[in-house]
Amino acid sequence: MGLLAFVSSLPPAEAILFSLFVVVVVSILALHLFKPKLHLPPGPVAVPIFGNWLQVGDDLNHENLSEMAKKYGEVFLLRMGQRNLVVVSSPELAKEVLHTQGVEFGSRTRNVVFDIFTGKGQDMVFTVYGDHWRKMRRIMTVPFFTNKVVQQSRPFWDEEINAVIKDIKADPDAANTGYVVRRRLQTLMYNNMFRMMFNRRFDKEDDPLFLELKRLNGERSRLAQSFEYNYGDFIPLLRPFLRNYLKKCQKVKDDRLNLLKSFVEERQRITDVKPPSNDEKCAIDHILDAHKNGEITYDNVLYIVENINVAAIETTLWTIEWGLAEIVNNPDIQEKMRDELNSVLGPGVPVTEPDLPNLPYLHCVVKEAMRLHMAIPLLVPHMNLKQAKLAGYDIPAESKILVNAWWLANNPEWWDKPEVFNPDRFAGAEKIEANGNDFRFLPFGVGRRSCPGIILAIPIVSLVLGRLVQAFELSPPPGQKKVDTTGHGGQFSLRIANHSVVVCKPVN
Ligand code: HEM
Repeated sequence: MGLLAFVSSLPPAEAILFSLFVVVVVSILALHLFKPKLHLPPGPVAVPIFGNWLQVGDDLNHENLSEMAKKYGEVFLLRMGQRNLVVVSSPELAKEVLHTQGVEFGSRTRNVVFDIFTGKGQDMVFTVYGDHWRKMRRIMTVPFFTNKVVQQSRPFWDEEINAVIKDIKADPDAANTGYVVRRRLQTLMYNNMFRMMFNRRFDKEDDPLFLELKRLNGERSRLAQSFEYNYGDFIPLLRPFLRNYLKKCQKVKDDRLNLLKSFVEERQRITDVKPPSNDEKCAIDHILDAHKNGEITYDNVLYIVENINVAAIETTLWTIEWGLAEIVNNPDIQEKMRDELNSVLGPGVPVTEPDLPNLPYLHCVVKEAMRLHMAIPLLVPHMNLKQAKLAGYDIPAESKILVNAWWLANNPEWWDKPEVFNPDRFAGAEKIEANGNDFRFLPFGVGRRSCPGIILAIPIVSLVLGRLVQAFELSPPPGQKKVDTTGHGGQFSLRIANHSVVVCKPVN
């Protein structure tokens, strides 16, 4: 029986339904058949629903992705369930993504967890490229990212590191069995940023407010960087199983924003009584001005504080921690740093921010620490809102673009013995800087979405490492040749897995 004869044999209502069904099926098939075929980047063969997820697993860290780049090339595609993940692993293509097509690839992907923590992009770091991002970045520039801010902040950077050195000297174990310097440096970083933001500091390590702040920031980092929630992000059908995880994220987000709000209100109470002059203003005063002028909402104000808490404190702390571990493990390099500091400044004269341009070796050590152990080795993921072209391939709209900055800086094709900590590699004539003047070395990214905090991060890291080397001979604990430099990666972060115990013997 032909199809027409079959339809005409059906009762009228069923004939209509059946015809509709046939039209839908034929349309879907036609759409599929005639849809222009995309020329996608290479990558492992994907299976339906799961894509490559079952093959490559959850842990898409910089080292695993570097191994895949060796197999699939400088750009490859992973299909993680519903998500397209494009990994870029050459300086030429990094330039294309971050610079030449910086607008096309200048958005950020979010996911179910980041949507909670950023209020669906009401912040700056994780928002798509566009008017909101431009406005937020402009509003954040004056209070945080200018040389004037560096000059206003440097007296308290000195006070904070002085306090650290004093505390280490006061601990009788520090010179013998060792001291977890990182724990004390965490307070230093919080104080550096909270003085800049709110003109306030935490006097005591056990201040309950400080402990709660650290707890909530730690939870935020852990929940956002974990691979645990990938399944629900990659495969929307599985999302209902994430309900408890997302509930936990929501609770941490609410508690955290409430706590951050209490710092903003505390500052408002002070400035209501005595309005600051322009020179006395701290960052939040400028940001609240932008709110009063109607440029941003009060929620945007809180998300700026939120962004600084995640983007500034941990990243800088991790970088100091990696640098310190390498200095401890390389006594010759430590000695060379001390010699430079002594000969340029004179023995016992503490290094300060204006001295930094005269200390090239210290600068090389900081850059080398960031090359070998990048705090954000895959940069913050980028995204193309519309379908785009890269290296002749089609990149589907809303792909997550990972630039493997760690591999660019650790690929033996471009670096001599990249696994060796060797600051002198930066002493050559090439003058590779961290500001993106060379696409093999992008610890802060480059282009529109690059890190504006570089202007603060480099002097803070340099001052802390320089002062520690001036004040102490730093070595591993007794019986240990080296401190452990194993890393612990997250969705796009890399920190030292075990905080180093460091013996700090005061230098005479
Ligand atoms: C050593 C310390 C730091 C490192 C390694 C670092 C690294 C990075 C990287 C790799 C990015 C993403 C670049 C991209 O996606 O192309 C980024 C973005 C960002 N960083 Fe940093 N950062 C550090 C310190 C800071 C500090 C101290 C601040 C603020 C005071 C800061 C604020 C930001 C902000 C706001 C963004 C987002 C920019 C945007 O999306 O437009 N960072 N950082």
